[in-house]
Parts: sequence; structure tokens; C-alpha cells
Amino acid sequence: MSQKSCQVYLWRCSFCGKKAYGKKPPISCNKCFSEANRYILIPKKEADIEVPNLEKFFGMPGLNNFLYLVGSTLDGRPNAMCCSSVTQISFCPARVAVAVNKNNLTHDFIKESGVFSLSPLTQSQGKVAHFFGRNSGRQVNKFEQYHYRSAVTGSPIIEGSFGYYDCEVEHRATVELDSHTLFVGKIIDGSLNSNELFLTYYDYKREYLAPRHNIT
Ligand SMILES: Cc1cc2nc3c(=O)[nH]c(=O)nc-3n(C[C@H](O)[C@H](O)[C@H](O)COP(=O)(O)O)c2cc1C
Repeated sequence: MSQKSCQVYLWRCSFCGKKAYGKKPPISCNKCFSEANRYILIPKKEADIEVPNLEKFFGMPGLNNFLYLVGSTLDGRPNAMCCSSVTQISFCPARVAVAVNKNNLTHDFIKESGVFSLSPLTQSQGKVAHFFGRNSGRQVNKFEQYHYRSAVTGSPIIEGSFGYYDCEVEHRATVELDSHTLFVGKIIDGSLNSNELFLTYYDYKREYLAPRHNIT
């Protein structure tokens, strides 16, 4: 995540040297209590080196809780990716929103086909999250390694999935963001048939982002 894409800047209090990250300088320095106009913007080159772990800064994993596979099929080829940016939008009609990075193949598939599937992952599917989240369909055919079936829209549902939502994109509600598209989907079919616990971003991080792992 680059500093530029997040619009976060590094500021330094010209009075005491205390640094702060944010879109704007802090209202006042919490060390020497100087006002915002005492803050100077640190040049991007220097700030890049010092930029903190933005995930920690924004507390993002706390916001994005459960993990899902978002799948879509284009010209008969299925693809899916791991996704944490998923939320329910309305109950009646049932709608969900997913934020998909424009670099992802899944993005192109959803944009072209106008449909996607959403499969909540369970705690026994950490490896699935890792595989579908760390590999792009641009390089590998992910469904060569995992069996699937097609939902009503043709979107893939991975074998062993304990539930899914099959969605049609509502174009009027799709939001273009710079790096991502927020697709709003109307749920047209689906089922949930297990009491297994959902896989959270925290579970995933704890299990799969430790340096000892190098799973493909
Ligand atoms: C835990 C986890 C959560 C992720 N959440 C998202 C997300 O919310 N949105 C997104 O666009 N990509 C997300 N990704 C990244 C995509 O899954 C990843 O870029 C994937 O390789 C894209 O595959 P594709 O190019 O086949 O679509 C996540 C990855 C992981 C491991």
C-alpha cells in the first residue's frame, strides 16, 4: 500500500520535531501543544522511508472481519479471489457490496459478466484463503487445483463450501473508486448449511502471515 494511494502524509512539528501521519496536520502537537500551522509536510521521498505499517495505522483488519471467496466466470472460465471487503447493504432486497481492486482478474470478470458469487470461508479454510488471495488468475488457473460447481449465474462455488450467495451486479449502485470498484450485488440465490465458525482476517493473519509460511 503506497502512501500516495492512501493520501496519508507525514508531518513534523517545526517546534519540537514530533512527527504525525494523516491527511492533514494534527490540530495541535500532542507533545509541545503547538498549533497545526507549526507542522511542516515532510517531502515524499523521506516520508516513504518512514511511512508506518498503514494497516496498523488505520486498524483495517478490525474493520474487515470475515473472509470470503468472490468468484466470477467469463467466457466459460471460472476465477475467484479471497476478499475481506464485503458487507451486507440491505435485507430486502438482499444486497451485498464487495470492493475489488482493479488490478485483479476477478475485477475484470465481474465487470464484464455482471455477476459474482460470494462464499464465506470457515476456520478450516485458511489454506483456501491463502491460495486464492496470494495467486492471481492472470498467472494460474486456480480452479485447476480446486473443484467447484457453478451457481445459477455461472459463478464458481468452491467444493466444500458451506454456503454461498449468488449475485447480480446492480450497475446504478456500483461505485468507481480510484484503485477499487465497489460492486453492489443483489442476491438472487444462495444457501448456508453449516454451523462452522467463519474465518476472520485476524485468524488468517495469525496463521498465514507469519514468516515461516510460504504457501502457494
Ligand atoms: C486475507 C486477504 C484479504 C483480501 N481482501 C481483498 C479485498 O477485500 N479486495 C481485493 O480486491 N483484494 C483482496 N485480497 C487480494 C486478492 O485476493 C488477490 O489480489 C488475488 O490474488 C486476486 O486474484 P485475481 O487476480 O485472480 O482476481 C485479499 C487477499 C487476502 C489474502
